Amino acid sequence: MSKKIFSGVQPTGNLHLGNYLGAIKNFVDLNNDKDNKCIFCVVDLHAITVRQDPEKLKNNIRETVATFIASGIDPKKSIIFNQSRVAAHAEGAWILSCVARMGWLNRMTQFKEKAGKDKEKASIGLYSYPVLMAADILLYDATHVPVGDDQKQHLELCRDIAQKFNNDFDVENFLQVPEPLIQKEFSRIMSLKDGSKKMSKSELSDLSRINLTDNKDEIINKIKKAKTDPLPMPQDIKELDERLEAKNLLGIYSSLTNSKLENSIKNFSGKNFSEFKEQLAEELVNKIEPISNEIKKLLEDKKFLDEILLDGVEKANMIASKKIERIKEIVGF
Ligand code: ADP
Ligand code: TRP
Repeated sequence: MSKKIFSGVQPTGNLHLGNYLGAIKNFVDLNNDKDNKCIFCVVDLHAITVRQDPEKLKNNIRETVATFIASGIDPKKSIIFNQSRVAAHAEGAWILSCVARMGWLNRMTQFKEKAGKDKEKASIGLYSYPVLMAADILLYDATHVPVGDDQKQHLELCRDIAQKFNNDFDVENFLQVPEPLIQKEFSRIMSLKDGSKKMSKSELSDLSRINLTDNKDEIINKIKKAKTDPLPMPQDIKELDERLEAKNLLGIYSSLTNSKLENSIKNFSGKNFSEFKEQLAEELVNKIEPISNEIKKLLEDKKFLDEILLDGVEKANMIASKKIERIKEIVGF
């Protein structure tokens, strides 16, 4: 069956191995299936829900496009564009924010995590962020949305909003209720410094993540310094519940080598971590170094990256402007 794919990545810098294994790698596979229509959005409106330096944001938008292409997304097959240039996203978000309920948004755990202790000082945008994400998806009648595990709750909200809109305005199936595409295994890559925290762009220590722009030496060094425990490598999958760092590193290894976690455990069972880490670093360098080199090369040609966005904006606009016109008619404007 042909799928309509939509996904977004925030241009907030430091794209990392978690973004790659949790989301971008999946985008590449979907892009390579000729039956799919794919749209990948650089969600710059989402990025400004927390303060951004305007000059850095401009560069981060280009860097996100460069990362998509360097990872293997073909801009001739997929639409790549930035959200702020297609007005329907902001308009759609407003209309859908009148459909979504406070009670639904109050349950979003990502807001609670990102707002931290001082919720009163968080921006309103950070709170209503998932409604904008729903507009992104629903404007393109996306059938499938590939994301990392942390976005599951936002997608459920998107489904609720679509269903409520269809019911409230008596327009059965007008907004397509999308399916999440979340990898069954290794959909949440954890910090190299703490196996209970997700690998994240905003973590202060750069040693906690492998950036997609890291070079060979940086990758090797970060894996050497990655937290482990004093025991030898696990012998049984059951041990992993208590050994989060070992679980994460074995998960990364398995995901990179497309192997089952059980097989990776068998391969290294009882050995020293140092031996395993050498192999893991080698796999990472093989995968990440070419991407990193390509990102750097692409970033030297700003014109090329800007043209890809311009072309994508034009194509996205054609789809989204039609949908928003219908939405406006339906609500009575
Ligand atoms: P974030 O600030 O959470 O990294 P992004 O918009 O950059 O936000 O996320 C892009 C994609 O990467 C999303 O689909 C998200 O679920 C995924 N992702 C982010 N961090 C991880 C992680 N540690 N493990 C797996 N997937 C992740
Ligand atoms: N909220 C997502 C994240 O932080 C990014 C995003 C924005 C997105 N709009 C989207 C993902 C639409 C999928 C579909 O990772």
